[in-house]
Amino acid sequence: MRLDPALAIPRSVSAVDIHLMPGSYHTEYVPDDVTMGCVYDERLRLSTFGLFGPDLGDIGRSIAKFVATRFTNFAPARILDLGCTVGHNTLPWKETFPKAEVHGIDVSPPCLRYAHARARERGVAIHFEQMNACALQYPDESFDVVFSSMFLHEIPKKEIPLVLREAFRVLRPGGLMLHMELPPANQLSPWDSFYLDWDGHYNNEPFYRSFRALDLQTIVTDAGFATDRYCQHVIPSWHALGSKQWRQAIDHVLPVNDERTGRLTTGIRWFVFGAKK
Ligand SMILES: C[S@@+](CC[C@H](N)C(=O)[O-])C[C@H]1O[C@@H](n2cnc3c(N)ncnc32)[C@H](O)[C@@H]1O
Repeated sequence: MRLDPALAIPRSVSAVDIHLMPGSYHTEYVPDDVTMGCVYDERLRLSTFGLFGPDLGDIGRSIAKFVATRFTNFAPARILDLGCTVGHNTLPWKETFPKAEVHGIDVSPPCLRYAHARARERGVAIHFEQMNACALQYPDESFDVVFSSMFLHEIPKKEIPLVLREAFRVLRPGGLMLHMELPPANQLSPWDSFYLDWDGHYNNEPFYRSFRALDLQTIVTDAGFATDRYCQHVIPSWHALGSKQWRQAIDHVLPVNDERTGRLTTGIRWFVFGAKK
């Protein structure tokens, strides 16, 4: 697809600002527009320097494979990705659990159109739907996995409890909620913590700081999950390590409180938190 750059990027935004999603996720310049999906796909490729893997799906792939490896008797039939954008981290769930029905929801029509086209082009069957994660239109107990990546820190703090309560509601008993997120401030090295504050301030991330100040176990249990069902992990990157080393690394994953998490550092590891229902 050829895009007119003047359409995609407002004139007031310079080329170096392209990683900021000028126009945001939802903007539509023409009917049935996919511009913002294209912008997200390309700006993420540029700004992550290959760290997210060739298809930008390393977060979803590493976490789905972690679930498949750690919970060998767990065979999810329905999987939901909240705030899926263009589906970079939705498709790896279908790749890892081919028998599962995989859904991705987002509020952005242009990103969802792009996600649908991208998944079809790759031959992966995903159900993309426009939906607000704070008010899901799915019945109670209809999913085995509720996942998100880089999503919760994007929404106002007051909406996070709504999303977690919805996740609890739509999960079946025994189902798993997992959110890949910014590690909490008290679990980072001083350098990484400073880096995230700097990034949040200068990169227009208004909710970074308030998200990282949250007590994650408290917000999860407030949503209805039992305290002893809370979990958090730091998952090695499948793309960075390759399958053999990744398997070895998985065997040594420690509870996150036992180590400094780091972010986008050597071996890139993904922080996830959540709970089993
Ligand atoms: C940083 S992106 C998420 C990236 C994506 N999960 C991935 O792994 O590539 C944030 C997304 O959240 C979506 N979003 C924001 N508020 C939402 C809400 N209340 N419900 C659903 N999606 C929402 C935005 O449209 C955007 O696509």
